[in-house]
Amino acid sequence: MPGITPETQETLINAAIQARDMAYTPYSGFKVGAALLTNDLKIYKGCNIENAAYTPTNCAERTAFFKAVSEGERRFAAIAIAGWQDGKPPGLAYPCGVCRQVMMEFTNPDDFWVIVAASKAEYNALLLRELLPLGFGPANLL
Ligand code: THU
Repeated sequence: MPGITPETQETLINAAIQARDMAYTPYSGFKVGAALLTNDLKIYKGCNIENAAYTPTNCAERTAFFKAVSEGERRFAAIAIAGWQDGKPPGLAYPCGVCRQVMMEFTNPDDFWVIVAASKAEYNALLLRELLPLGFGPANLL
């Protein structure tokens, strides 16, 4: 991952695992934590927040993005994501389509890394472009 040191990557994965502790998941029990890295190396954490009416549920990735964007951040380098179900990581928890679309809005998909982690040792790092090929984004409208 050009521009992201192994230390930063480890810090980001640890932050996602930590963020997962705050997940509010009384309905699914599926806990997700996310940690979003800005280009100037700040980290914004997020967790999934469920709702009794189900559809207002917000994923961990979007919580992290909305926190960061609402604080004025616009330039992002990477996001780490860590899931948890039945007392263990559910394999690798890849981001849902809606979250991929939100990432597309605020990043360059050819230069934004998505690190899906079970632990700091077991992870898969992909470019957003690989997760959302031929995506629709701001470049199509602006
Ligand atoms: N979830 C996330 O937080 N991120 C994803 O990318 C996939 C799904 C959450 C939403 C819901 O609270 C739970 O996981 C089960 O779908």
